[in-house]
Amino acid sequence: MQSSEILLTGGKTNLGSIVRVGDTVRRPINSNSTFVHEFLQYLESIKFDASPYFLGMDEQGREVISYIEGEVPLNLGYYSDEQLVAAAKLIRRFHDVTEGCKLAGSEEIVCHNDLSPCNFVFINDKPTSIIDFDMAAPGTRIFDLAYAAWLWLDIGNEEISVNDQKRRLIVFTEAYGIYNTNLLIEIMTKRQSILIEEGHRHQKPCMTKWAQSALEWTTRNLHQ
Ligand SMILES: Nc1ncnc2c1ncn2[C@@H]1O[C@H](COP(=O)(O)OP(=O)(O)O)[C@@H](O)[C@H]1O
Ligand SMILES: [Mg+2]
Repeated sequence: MQSSEILLTGGKTNLGSIVRVGDTVRRPINSNSTFVHEFLQYLESIKFDASPYFLGMDEQGREVISYIEGEVPLNLGYYSDEQLVAAAKLIRRFHDVTEGCKLAGSEEIVCHNDLSPCNFVFINDKPTSIIDFDMAAPGTRIFDLAYAAWLWLDIGNEEISVNDQKRRLIVFTEAYGIYNTNLLIEIMTKRQSILIEEGHRHQKPCMTKWAQSALEWTTRNLHQ
């Protein structure tokens, strides 16, 4: 690492290999990067103002994206209704601009696929931008939103009451504009099952355990 590089911690997937250099971020590429770069360029072309710009590749073969000033949470937490509404509206705005774009192909939208609060930049405690598009791919609104609801509400956290989570789920989904919470919960459990599988496959026992307990909590308390 050169002296001008500042290590950015916080992420889990690429921990140790993401750095800030001036107003840019350097990240390793992966098999989805070509899609992601095109997608970030698309978002820039339509003047979406809440995602990083793709600036090219550096001499070390890393992607270069713009650094967005603000705070990125290190962990999940308890977000206020105001913050949940701001996040859901931002996700809605993001989904809306991807609907019908070439990169969505025959799908409804382009999903971010990792809409955790840990992939949002906050300014004055308000989520204002989305980062970490590594997993972006064509998909459906509800699939992306179900995962976002799980993480933004921290579903499965035993310290938050069932009634409060039911109420917050309505706050979140109504702010987005999806009213079929039963379908969303159904998809959330599918998403939890997918992560359990991925945890097994990639030998990430913490991920498996976390997704497993979230699935149990969701099935016990939210399933109809
Ligand atoms: N464009 C960006 N602007 C500001 N901070 C960023 C940006 N990209 C990454 N970061 C910082 O680097 C950390 C890790 O980046 P992220 O892209 O989320 O990687 P990972 O795939 O490991 O989760 C983030 O938590 C955030 O603090
Ligand atoms: Mg991340």
